[in-house]
Amino acid sequence: MSDAIPLAPMPLAARAPGKCILFGEHSVVHGGPELLLAIDLYLQVGMSGAPEFQLAGDAAAARAHPYLNEARRMYWDEAYGGVEVEPVSRIPRAAGLGSSAAFCAAVVCGLSAARGGVERSLLAERSFAVERAAQGVGSPGDTSAVVGGGYVAINAGAGAILWELTDGERSWRVRRVVDPGWLWLVAYSGVPRSTAEAVRSVNRRLQAPDGAELLAKFAEVATLGIEAVAAERREQIGPLLDENHRLLREVGVSHPRIETLIDAIRPIAEGAKVTGAGAGGSIVALLRPGHEVDALRRTRAVGGRGYIVRASPNGARLVTSGR
Ligand code: PMV
Repeated sequence: MSDAIPLAPMPLAARAPGKCILFGEHSVVHGGPELLLAIDLYLQVGMSGAPEFQLAGDAAAARAHPYLNEARRMYWDEAYGGVEVEPVSRIPRAAGLGSSAAFCAAVVCGLSAARGGVERSLLAERSFAVERAAQGVGSPGDTSAVVGGGYVAINAGAGAILWELTDGERSWRVRRVVDPGWLWLVAYSGVPRSTAEAVRSVNRRLQAPDGAELLAKFAEVATLGIEAVAAERREQIGPLLDENHRLLREVGVSHPRIETLIDAIRPIAEGAKVTGAGAGGSIVALLRPGHEVDALRRTRAVGGRGYIVRASPNGARLVTSGR
């Protein structure tokens, strides 16, 4: 079966998974290695032809939505009329779990399907272009994970190359990493944050004299993490997550509520860290096996929202009937 998105007339539905970052967020923006997985929490959009663009029945909301506007400007032709977009999502918003990337990928998947279909590598390129235009900063890590599904490594590793993307200044090579089948805890602190603001503040921090040294440490940890996941050396992962978290704290993107969450699950975790842009947002933890329910309880007790996730085998796709 081809992995391309086929031609599909509207009305149609498209869905994309969320994501979490195991190693290398922020340093990936500067070309460093990163490891992500698409997670099995999904966002779905229903799309049908309409006289004008609407978001959940609201034309003003569609006009005010930066991601929808960029998708429509870049990958739609108003000669086809408008589109009514109906989103529904299990991915918490502004939490570092990929809701923006999933929205971009699902919307671009639907628009591209209606206009004749699209190769998956081009869907990754388009989804990144939309997210980047709307956010103004960032890497193609998130959009690559939600389009590729499973585990993906950026700028490192030995797996098959899925695609290579550029912003004109930097380029990022995206590879497949085989899913080791592990469960993860992701837990939202309840503190929403802006990816763009966090990226800009880390960029400023990295201008300091020790910036290059910090980037080298991020790269070292992520490279070891990618190798350990690819080789299923689980016992190495926890300490590397902890080390990556120390570096993220050093560049200023932890938060008191994040530290509280990590402290709450530390007794039952092999390792834990901020995932995503941070400064609030979420953590990811590798739990000691058998402690999943306890982790949800501990997360709730400190005001967080926990999810036990594993890799989504599929990236963005049309929701179709049939076998
Ligand atoms: O949007 P978030 O919270 O998943 O952060 C994305 C990861 C960063 O490395 C901070 C930014 C990027 O675009 O790679």
